[in-house]
Amino acid sequence: MSVICRKALPQDVEALFELIQGYAANGIMLPRSREALTRNIDTFIVAQDGDRLIGCGSLCRLGVDLVEIRSLGIVDGYKGQGVGSRLVDALIEEARVLGIPKVMALTYEAAFFQKNGFHIVEKEIFPEKVWTDCVNCPKQHCCDEIAVVRLIEVPQGNENLSFAQI
Ligand SMILES: CC(C)(COP(=O)(O)OP(=O)(O)OC[C@H]1O[C@@H](n2cnc3c(N)ncnc32)[C@H](O)[C@@H]1OP(=O)(O)O)[C@@H](O)C(=O)NCCC(=O)NCCS
Repeated sequence: MSVICRKALPQDVEALFELIQGYAANGIMLPRSREALTRNIDTFIVAQDGDRLIGCGSLCRLGVDLVEIRSLGIVDGYKGQGVGSRLVDALIEEARVLGIPKVMALTYEAAFFQKNGFHIVEKEIFPEKVWTDCVNCPKQHCCDEIAVVRLIEVPQGNENLSFAQI
């Protein structure tokens, strides 16, 4: 397997749509329209094996110091081989380059995120902006996702941040 991770390009929209739609149909991810994917394509990192798109993840900016990892998924047959972790690493690097010290996610896969340096936190600590996407979620009034966050060092020097300051 020779998987590469790279920034998504407009020609990836259809494969991204199919991948996300598959998980959205099972309630694991929120759906993304082709139009929304096209508009936000520069927020996506994809994993590719040969000419096949086998994974994706995106970074959604929620404030000056907070981003959310969204739409993280690997196609069946490629799970458990480190691809998800490589996508998370690439997204964390994006956040670092942007100078954003807090990276969060809402997930059913907390153990995976913990393996990647995230900590479980109370959902309520996040600002209202985090919840704007939830209006599109069928589970908005009974959300059972787990909030995780990782603090990263960024060039501007936010090394004194603690979870209490999120
Ligand atoms: C969650 C997901 C992205 C993980 O990607 P992956 O490529 O399979 O994960 P990795 O191979 O990088 O796993 C990294 C570590 O996490 C562990 N891990 C992965 N999924 C796990 C799970 N569901 N429960 C517990 N541990 C898990 C792996 O065992 C591995 O541990 P190790 O380093 O000790 O070997 C992938 O399983 C997936 O696409 N799931 C469906 C969509 C989804 O739920 N996305 C999350 C939305 S936020």
